[in-house]
Amino acid sequence: MDTRPVLRLPRAGRPDPPAGRATAVSVGDDVVVEIHAARPADGGDALMLLDDAERRRHDRLRREVDRARFAVGRRVLRHAVAERHGVAARTIEVRTAPAPALAGAGAGGGRPVVPGGPRGISIAHGGQLVLVALCDVHAVGVDVEPLASSASIEAVATTLLGPAEHAALRARTDPELGTGCSRQLELLRAWTRKEAILKAVGVGLTVPPEAIVLARDGAPRVAATSGGLPEARRFALWDLDAGPGHVAALAVLRDG
Ligand SMILES: CC(C)(COP(=O)(O)OP(=O)(O)OC[C@H]1O[C@@H](n2cnc3c(N)ncnc32)[C@H](O)[C@@H]1OP(=O)(O)O)[C@@H](O)C(=O)NCCC(=O)NCCS
Repeated sequence: MDTRPVLRLPRAGRPDPPAGRATAVSVGDDVVVEIHAARPADGGDALMLLDDAERRRHDRLRREVDRARFAVGRRVLRHAVAERHGVAARTIEVRTAPAPALAGAGAGGGRPVVPGGPRGISIAHGGQLVLVALCDVHAVGVDVEPLASSASIEAVATTLLGPAEHAALRARTDPELGTGCSRQLELLRAWTRKEAILKAVGVGLTVPPEAIVLARDGAPRVAATSGGLPEARRFALWDLDAGPGHVAALAVLRDG
């Protein structure tokens, strides 16, 4: 399978720098996507950097781990952009652009936008990882999921994959897919690739993941799209090596 490992989990026991551990991923045509990785425990000045609206969102989150992930995502984003501009992180304004289907609904979430900052910004948190992807040229989407139990993975497979993809995955005779573990990995790869794509477009799960059909040979490639998504040829996909226990993907949406 064509996987391009580009990102390593930050080493445990060492505090991350405020902007996380950064990796530059070349996505062709001299374009680079910066991926910053941190852990939810690397809070540092995270709470102090939240603006009022973010603070309200943070306080509404019920689980402590979700609050930590949210705050660290914003912390890493602010520090990463601030480093590029040579300014203090607290001066970086972060807005959210809701999915078009939710515009005006006041749901609170959405794609992060930094006025005057990189064109493509994406945040993902899952398990022990917080990822922030930045690109000056293209819209980008990043997603990370912890390796979960096969039972819950089976449940999401039904929602995630269209009937044809599900049947194709079940029918695959690749010996590497013979064990429950590798099947789980394969499903998580499909999940993270699709969520990364939906984030790059800015719609999130307001468009069902089955509107994206991935290449049947398992390569990180979009075969077809529907549901108003951009054409398949405009997307590029990478599987990221996020270290043990996590599966992650990066999507780039090129201009039409
Ligand atoms: C985008 C989405 C698929 C991510 O879900 P998830 O797997 O639970 O969470 P992840 O950690 O992978 O990603 C969360 C990040 O996605 C980003 N995001 C949210 N909506 C997004 C969108 N429409 N497009 C791109 N990125 C989006 C945010 O940066 C968010 O992190 P933050 O809130 O800390 O800034 C999901 O939030 C979604 O479908 N949102 C659209 C529906 C919606 O907005 N509902 C209202 C929520 S209150």
